[in-house]
Amino acid sequence: MNLIFLGPPGAGKGTMAQLLMADAGIPQISTGDMLRQAMKAGTEMGLSAKRYIEAGELVPDEVVIGIVKDRLQAEDCKNGYILDGFPRTVPQAEALAQFAKIDVALNIALDDEVIINRLGGRRVCLKCGATYHTSTLNGKDTCANCGEKLVQRKDDAPETVKNRLAVYAAQTAPLIDYYAKKGLLKTVECAPKATVQENYAKVRETLGMA
Ligand code: AP5
Repeated sequence: MNLIFLGPPGAGKGTMAQLLMADAGIPQISTGDMLRQAMKAGTEMGLSAKRYIEAGELVPDEVVIGIVKDRLQAEDCKNGYILDGFPRTVPQAEALAQFAKIDVALNIALDDEVIINRLGGRRVCLKCGATYHTSTLNGKDTCANCGEKLVQRKDDAPETVKNRLAVYAAQTAPLIDYYAKKGLLKTVECAPKATVQENYAKVRETLGMA
């Protein structure tokens, strides 16, 4: 199954994608993770992406389209994949349609208030991409998967989160209509207090995997 996970920043796209990847054996392709890895490695592309990401703006379409097009050629994508954070603009969706056949665009919906709280407590592992929340870390600050020290993303600062939500509303939310008109949209409404496992059960059910 070729899937897109849509949704505002902090809705849980990455968390749900990691669970589904382990469950269904298809890779999570996160443009955000790939851009952060390029930043960490100090590549030319990473350095040019840095100023957009840290300001909560989108990286130019041509950069991310190229990254995803290359990534989807890899052997591990042959049996399906989860696009997490791509496409994020209508031009990206139109480009994607030229080189991929999408089965479902899953919209993970959550209120802004909950998002702001979630992103304030998010901690990430820059080595393996695992994501945690301070509410479940019990004071630990290392990754349970690889032992790396966990960090707070710079773009999770409150002012940057506000800008990311505004950018989402202006540039990414139109994709909900775009995929609805193509008959590919499914939506998971996440209750504010639902646990990760409860939300994941809804994702599975919505994808017909329950
Ligand atoms: P990206 O990394 O894709 O960020 P995002 O879309 O803003 O999404 P997030 O990673 O912030 O959130 P998420 O929905 O994955 O939530 P998570 O699972 O972590 O992109 C970053 C930047 O890169 C962009 O701003 C842009 O500059 C650039 N970029 C990337 N793709 C691009 C593109 N296609 N075009 C142009 N630019 C691009 O969950 C959030 C927190 O909540 C975590 O702490 C998690 O543990 C917790 N949590 C999750 N579910 C639950 C739950 N049910 N209950 C309690 N806590 C939960």
